[in-house]
Amino acid sequence: MGPKPNLDWGSAPADRPPATMPAGFHYPALPAPASDKLVSLPFPIRVVCGGGEPVDGFVPDPNVVAGGMNHADNAIDTSASNSAPAAVYQSECYGKDFTYTFPVPAGEHCLVRLHFAEIFDNGAGSRIENIAINGQPVQCREGDTVSAAMFAAGVVDCRDTVVGGVPRGPYCMMGICYDCLVTIDGQPNQQGCMTLVREGMNIERQSGARQVRT
Ligand code: FES
Repeated sequence: MGPKPNLDWGSAPADRPPATMPAGFHYPALPAPASDKLVSLPFPIRVVCGGGEPVDGFVPDPNVVAGGMNHADNAIDTSASNSAPAAVYQSECYGKDFTYTFPVPAGEHCLVRLHFAEIFDNGAGSRIENIAINGQPVQCREGDTVSAAMFAAGVVDCRDTVVGGVPRGPYCMMGICYDCLVTIDGQPNQQGCMTLVREGMNIERQSGARQVRT
């Protein structure tokens, strides 16, 4: 993916770099804002987000405002309990800001169950995460640890010892030696070898003594 796509998704299809689009994706037209004509649905309300056709009682995208729609015919494993039909997971509504609104009777307590599916990338570990290491933009794979991402980026020193300022880098890669400590998103003393990267993560070399918080 391009630089930090999650921050801008929904403003335009072009925000998703074509080079990362799995085969078969397309962008249906965005739905018209519907806040002034809400559709009332009987309970349980089941929605196939981003879908154009109903699926076994799941209705296609009522009462949605903004967002973008995707569809992919990837094979879906629905063996998990409470799974919806596979077709429900073959489309999505995505974006930085989008809203579904459903009228319910006053005083009604409702259980909302959200099912998430990754349909943008079509294989385990194929998602690209955009992170920053010491201020430099870096791309790595979903499932990488921070230390692995740093090694892959050629960054072997991640901290300096408090006494002596000696450079240290990940050693055991299994959570024992603590030589992999880094500052992540402003939080010091994070074990890089035990922390998975995530989109937008900011990793910084750790130098000197950390503040003790009370
Ligand atoms: S490399 Fe040893 S604890 Fe992380």
